[in-house]
Amino acid sequence: MQGSVDVTKAANQATVDWKVSGIPAIDLSLIPEYRVEPDLITRYQSDGATLLRGLYRDWVSTLRAGLQRNLDDPMAYAFPCDSTPDGAPGRYFDSYCNWLLIPEYFEHVTRSSAASVAGQLMGVEQVQFFHEHAFCKEPGTQQATPWHQDLPYYCVDGTQTVSLYVALDEMSADVALRFVRGSHRWGRSFHPVSFYDGANFDTEGEVLEAVPDIESNPDRYEILVWDLEPGDCIAFDFRALHGTTAGEVKRRRRAVSTRWLGDDVRYCERPIATSPPFPDIGLKPGDRMREDWFPVLWRR
Ligand SMILES: [Fe+2]
Repeated sequence: MQGSVDVTKAANQATVDWKVSGIPAIDLSLIPEYRVEPDLITRYQSDGATLLRGLYRDWVSTLRAGLQRNLDDPMAYAFPCDSTPDGAPGRYFDSYCNWLLIPEYFEHVTRSSAASVAGQLMGVEQVQFFHEHAFCKEPGTQQATPWHQDLPYYCVDGTQTVSLYVALDEMSADVALRFVRGSHRWGRSFHPVSFYDGANFDTEGEVLEAVPDIESNPDRYEILVWDLEPGDCIAFDFRALHGTTAGEVKRRRRAVSTRWLGDDVRYCERPIATSPPFPDIGLKPGDRMREDWFPVLWRR
């Protein structure tokens, strides 16, 4: 699938309808409550990224099976994207908004403790599910994910957010996701860039500041990174700066993230096609995200 141009071009464009025939009724009583240790909550809120070791070990085979559907037939699912340039080694694939299309993802969203963990880490009264996002780097890939914050790519704004990134393979710290400790609290928004070639997104004249040079200033920025085992979960704030090196991926590196919204999150418009784009969302800036698309899955 390397150099699969059709898939690359499909990035950020609606392919199949992610909502299919609507969101089914979800029985919240089937979502297990998991008690997050208070010191982990404190660390999450101060650092913006925290490791929950082994939290989803029991979900690894389910999530791998779901991701395999994504990989086997990318165009059958929403927002598939190959970010590997033609001729470059390996493959860097991602796809998102498939939780209604891939039963294994649906099961994880609606039957795992993720909603409960998200609510406690954010310290909110209720939690809305935003979407899932699956990633796969094949062996040989040397493509860096540039330093970025997720929030400027999204059609939401707020301070109570969390992504729960579940590693599905062993990842050594040299190729794992890295975070700048505390960057979610800087009060800064950085210009979104393409993961394909690192170029600035066209934002119709509205240019945010560029991400600072993290690599050259190790004294100024503290990097958080962990060796990961399958089932380890990194919780991180949508505002946290994160990325990977261009270090060669020696073994397959798969992961599935679920993304969650807390009480203060509101719809916003951005000068880019957001990821995901929701052209028919029917909201005004400042509105709460509609619950018929982004269901409330946990209440305190
Ligand atoms: Fe990201």
